[in-house]
Amino acid sequence: MAKQSQWKTSTGFILASAGSAIGLGAMWKFPYMAGVNGGGAFLLMFLIFTLLVGLPLLIMEFTVGKMGQTYTTKIYEKLTGKKWLNIIGWNGNLAVFILFGFYSVIGGWIIIYICTVIYHIVTLQSNQIGNLQFEALIGNPWLTIVGQGIFILLTTVIVMLGVEKGLEKASKFMMPLLFIFLILIVLKSLSLDGAMSGLRYILEPRVQDITVEGILLALGQSFFTLSLGTTGMITYASYASKEMTIKTSALSIVAMNILVSILAGLAIFPAISAFGYQPTEGPGLLFIVLPKVFEQMTFGAGFYLIFLILFLFAALTSSISLLELNVSNFTKNDNTKRKRVAVIGSILVFAISIPATLSFSSLSNIQFAAGTIFDNMDFLVSNILMPIGALGTTLVVGQLLDKEALRDYFGRDKFKLFSPWYYLIKFILPIVIVLIFVVQFI
Ligand code: PHE
Repeated sequence: MAKQSQWKTSTGFILASAGSAIGLGAMWKFPYMAGVNGGGAFLLMFLIFTLLVGLPLLIMEFTVGKMGQTYTTKIYEKLTGKKWLNIIGWNGNLAVFILFGFYSVIGGWIIIYICTVIYHIVTLQSNQIGNLQFEALIGNPWLTIVGQGIFILLTTVIVMLGVEKGLEKASKFMMPLLFIFLILIVLKSLSLDGAMSGLRYILEPRVQDITVEGILLALGQSFFTLSLGTTGMITYASYASKEMTIKTSALSIVAMNILVSILAGLAIFPAISAFGYQPTEGPGLLFIVLPKVFEQMTFGAGFYLIFLILFLFAALTSSISLLELNVSNFTKNDNTKRKRVAVIGSILVFAISIPATLSFSSLSNIQFAAGTIFDNMDFLVSNILMPIGALGTTLVVGQLLDKEALRDYFGRDKFKLFSPWYYLIKFILPIVIVLIFVVQFI
């Protein structure tokens, strides 16, 4: 078998896993989900789940990757001796495959917006960016198919050439720049007339807004943003060097994700109330509201363009991790097969992404279970496959792996965190995941 590729330093590992985590989940999906599910109530549940469920699970996935050091459709067998448990890896593979299918739709929207803003700037209509018509752009089937095709192509080329490392290095300055831009948008949003009611909507947890569905979706959101249950984080940790620090890496990724989610919320909701939009706008929310905010700024079109490029960058560092997981599982880490597998995988992803994209145009009237085809793909991944994957791994770690070996990989610390973490994984989290999972079907 080919040798597992490795990052030389633990910074490489942190940059890659933070890049995988921080993407559309925090910036696009969080505000739209919060808007539909009661604002502040959703934020509160998301925070609770991210800290009490997401963080321990992320530590768990890092530990498994570090212990197993191989691709995830093999790692379960390697660790437990039971071949059938590799099914957890295959579940993750299926999850990221479908996830990439609908993720690319939004990636395509960003590309379409980038082109449209450039067009506005070149034709000296920069002052018109507030009038970008989301429905007209995204309701155009061919345009969106081309947009997502370009997004998938960009991801594929990066993975094929193996230039992810360059991208990760670039994220050292792209990510801080993205933070700065988010803060800039927050400040502008908060200064708008009528901003306060939107601010209250996202910050005030109104108990009456908590619904069973909201709880389930908030859990799904923490899984989505932290890339959990897909074994993507296990893959990245398996590439990492022995010196990687599991707990601090996990904590910093969780903290960054929470920060970006909250900033996205603070950027969007005050503007929603100021411009008289509805928070329940759905997946288009960010794309509908932000041009209006930028329109209010001097050089707004230019700033919006830079923001969109940074946003695209964040989406790409996540989508490469989606493709990378499939590539590592199907090549079994044999790099000679890398290009072929990346190309075949992307073509298949492109095929399933077409119905997802058409959910916003010609297929919008096909509605069942969770909503449109797009909604159902998202629900299947975030609320079914990811929790199942995470549950499977908690059972393996809590019931089958040796406690002392786990302790070694977990590392010692002055707070003696191992035992609370271990018992959470062994007893509490499997029950929590099963309970929330079952409740949705009652
Ligand atoms: N966490 C990524 C985001 O928020 C999505 C993702 C999920 C990436 C699972 C990889 C694996 O955008």
